Amino acid sequence: MDYKITKIDIFTRKSKFEELKEAMNEIGVTGMSVTQVMGCGMQKGDIQYYRGVAVEQKLLPKIKVEIVVCEVPVEKVIEAAERVLRTGEIGDGKIFIYDVQDAVKIRTGERGADALIDKNK
Ligand SMILES: Nc1ncnc2c1ncn2[C@@H]1O[C@H](COP(=O)(O)OP(=O)(O)OP(=O)(O)O)[C@@H](O)[C@H]1O
Ligand SMILES: [Mg+2]
Repeated sequence: MDYKITKIDIFTRKSKFEELKEAMNEIGVTGMSVTQVMGCGMQKGDIQYYRGVAVEQKLLPKIKVEIVVCEVPVEKVIEAAERVLRTGEIGDGKIFIYDVQDAVKIRTGERGADALIDKNK
């Protein structure tokens, strides 16, 4: 096995989704899963006051975009995501990267890289 499968989870603003999807399509990403999530990052530590009572910052609606790649270089996915998502303001989002053990394309039974590579290209 000389290939590596990697999962990239991108948490970011909902408003950026269309642009992010287009950027991923352009670099050859063959699939993605998108979920609406509630989340918070670093700012949750900021104590806010509501009528004089300390409360934790609320969770905000975000999107989670899950992408698994094999052929497409991980760094290319990260660069494209950063290019689209970075505004320099707090809440731009976070990217998490994981190793994936295996993948199965159910229709054909293909495993590993074969389950992820688009042979019609
Ligand atoms: N450590 C984490 N674990 C899991 N999810 C996280 C984590 N940090 C951020 N997220 C997810 O990413 C979303 C966006 O986070 P956010 O961009 O606010 O991160 P941050 O570290 O606070 O950066 P910034 O200071 O730029 O706001 C969060 O709403 C949450 O869904
Ligand atoms: Mg934040």
